[in-house]
Amino acid sequence: MSYIERANKRLDELRSKDGVVILAIESSCDETAVAVTRDRQLLSNVIASQIEIHKRYGGVVPEIASRNHTLAINNVVKEALAKADMTLDDVDCIAVTYGAGLLGALLVGVSYAKALAFASDKPLIGVNHIKGHIAANYLAKPDLQPPYVCLIASGGHTTIAYVKSLTEIEIKGCTHDDACGEAFDKVARVLDLPYPGGPQIEKLAKEGRATIELPTPYKDKETYDFSYSGIKTAVINYAHKCRQKGEELRRADLACSFQEKVTDIMVRNTIKCAEDMGVGTVVIAGGVGANGVLREKMSRAAESKGIKVFYPPLVLCTDNGAMIASQAYNMIRCGAKASNIDLDANANLKVFE
Ligand code: KG4
Ligand code: ZN
Repeated sequence: MSYIERANKRLDELRSKDGVVILAIESSCDETAVAVTRDRQLLSNVIASQIEIHKRYGGVVPEIASRNHTLAINNVVKEALAKADMTLDDVDCIAVTYGAGLLGALLVGVSYAKALAFASDKPLIGVNHIKGHIAANYLAKPDLQPPYVCLIASGGHTTIAYVKSLTEIEIKGCTHDDACGEAFDKVARVLDLPYPGGPQIEKLAKEGRATIELPTPYKDKETYDFSYSGIKTAVINYAHKCRQKGEELRRADLACSFQEKVTDIMVRNTIKCAEDMGVGTVVIAGGVGANGVLREKMSRAAESKGIKVFYPPLVLCTDNGAMIASQAYNMIRCGAKASNIDLDANANLKVFE
């Protein structure tokens, strides 16, 4: 029997097993992250962040990210196993993010996971990063059941998904230019704030008021789509004009105005989609989901319409291995086949793939 035949046979056995142990690797951007789960229970979640390294460049430098993943990955795997009080022998299945993300960064995780799976003769499951972000919610709330509407707002994506089942999702809205987190990071740069900009803008915005007028994209259009380039350009123009005139740049007001605008749009689109789809639950995923103002506004808007909102804890919003393990578990339960040893990283993997 070949490796892939053995892997698929083993996966078939795991579908009905209680206590499936998954070791999952995530390396799509600037976090080398590994988690160990047993069914929906999180046993360890180790995240080696490269933020401090990339900060000095004002954003993630892909080549540097890949090199640091290579340096970190072995120790992060060891630490995740040790924290879960397990050895590789206890693991039933290896999961890995194979897209979307930075190609070189993804390749480190994919190559490592393939070698680990092949050498230990365990099944391998390639996981879509965005589906992983959605699946983070099942760890925090094991009784969460589709259908629901999910806002995925990260550094690479801004998407509204109708989650039909554990593995099927339908995209209802997406960004036509920058992702929301990317816009936070770019606006932060204009405000001389370090990378990553989201948490920095949130902090500075607390000292300001939303007094600066910014445009509302697709104001009169029936759409769940997003666009951030107009808002971002308006912020840049405002800052340039202030500097040209020698006027003091009201940084906190600008941060607050930007945050208010983008969170208003995310809430409006998500709640509208939930109402139109007739679902009673809204879920938030991705790094921007850590934003307190977004969470508060979404809760208020949902409550007024009788819709429930659920957010994963902050550590499960930004990139982590646990979310990848959670989606791999969904895939096992739903009959997915194992990935073969020719699994390739796909930088542009689409949400529905
Ligand atoms: O999901 P994530 O960790 O990585 C990607 O898959 O992209 O998201 C990272 C993004 C960054 O752009 C960061 O600025 C943003 O999430 N972010 C936030 C907050 N925390 C992280 N944006 C707004 N408010 C926050 N508190
Ligand atoms: Zn992410």
